[in-house]
Amino acid sequence: MNTTELLALDAKHVWHPFTQMQGWIEDQPLIIERSEGNWLVDTDGKRWLDGISSLWVTVHGHRKAELDAALKQQLDKVAHCTLLGQANVPSIELAAKLAALTGLPRVFYSDSGSTSVEIAVKMAYQFWQLTGRTTKKRFVALKEAYHGDTIGSVSVGGMDLFHERFRDLLFPVERVGVDSLAEIEELFAAKHDELAGFVVEPLIQGAAGMLLQRPGWLKGLEALCRKYDVLLICDEVATGFGRTGKMFAVEHEGVKPDLMCVAKGLTGGYLPLAATLASERVYRAFLGRFDEAKTFFHGHTYTGNPLACAVALANLELFEREQTLEKMKQVEAVLAEGLAELARKSKRVREVRRRGLMIGVEIQREDGTAYEFGERMGFRVCLEARKHGVLLRPLGNVVVLMPPLSLTVDEAKLMLHALGDALTR
Ligand SMILES: Cc1ncc(COP(=O)(O)O)c(C=O)c1O
Repeated sequence: MNTTELLALDAKHVWHPFTQMQGWIEDQPLIIERSEGNWLVDTDGKRWLDGISSLWVTVHGHRKAELDAALKQQLDKVAHCTLLGQANVPSIELAAKLAALTGLPRVFYSDSGSTSVEIAVKMAYQFWQLTGRTTKKRFVALKEAYHGDTIGSVSVGGMDLFHERFRDLLFPVERVGVDSLAEIEELFAAKHDELAGFVVEPLIQGAAGMLLQRPGWLKGLEALCRKYDVLLICDEVATGFGRTGKMFAVEHEGVKPDLMCVAKGLTGGYLPLAATLASERVYRAFLGRFDEAKTFFHGHTYTGNPLACAVALANLELFEREQTLEKMKQVEAVLAEGLAELARKSKRVREVRRRGLMIGVEIQREDGTAYEFGERMGFRVCLEARKHGVLLRPLGNVVVLMPPLSLTVDEAKLMLHALGDALTR
């Protein structure tokens, strides 16, 4: 089928996520057919620089030889077998690796960021039930939080645009801002007997529009969680696997969560895999005789899928072999400098918010006022950037730059040029 035929069929049958399908074709969707390194190739053979790492996942780029090979090798052994009541080789090796990297020894697999958060919330809830503190049932989360799209992860989320419509289905959550630890301490002091856990994206709230936390805030939150015995649940779905310049964002502040959620970059963008990592304290609470029913009754069909675990393991090995975190510093510096210059020169840049290669450029009118939601200016800027062969995606008025960590300096310069020109247009 040619592109026109494929597009017509897509419009007829595929319901795209986070997408207003009325107007889908006018939004000029691309159909991707192939990929090479940091580039995607569409059905017309046109190459596109993947400036959002295919939704924040392809940390080492596409068609990475080592990842392709790991997947093929595993295919020759077994593609899938269940983790319910049995084990498989790659899931064991990967769990050991994740434990070594995070200091959290117990690994519970699932298949998306949303499920990893859903699981963390259920684990925290059950933990207190099992340890006799049965009033500790409520969760605390940040304003504007985004933790995924299942009902539990939507409950701890706080983005009205996405979540308000489902309010009646959601469980109530205590909502706090990031400005003041005093406000959080007040809440903890008054209600710690009711609080099971605090769910937070460490350092930077991605989908909220790349909102930065001030240095030391996370460490302060950890201290409060310890003081009042509230479990600290860090959602590293977006920040994990090098995105912020360290393997995990919590490392910047030496924070050790009780539960940690990882997904997205775990397999380098090859297969859907997630994990909820737990401390020994949390894990031990679930141990007991069979008839005590302390078991964590949760599990997805593809939990611990061997193909996904094998490619994740190879992806983690690449971080070491290629010195990914060291190498990305150069590109980070180029983007930081280029974006600072863009912000100085263009009144259309309200703010650049960046942590490592996790970047949001908030745009505004030249007179400093904000664009209305319905103007879709973020989207229109991204559409302009496509004229330079660069794929970006907005979050409202924030243009997101989340390139592969393997981005080259020349590619970084192309991204800067495309964004600058798009803003002018
Ligand atoms: C911080 C965070 N948590 C959870 C999720 C949900 O992940 P998934 O889309 O894999 O369910 C996302 C996705 O963007 C995210 O950014």
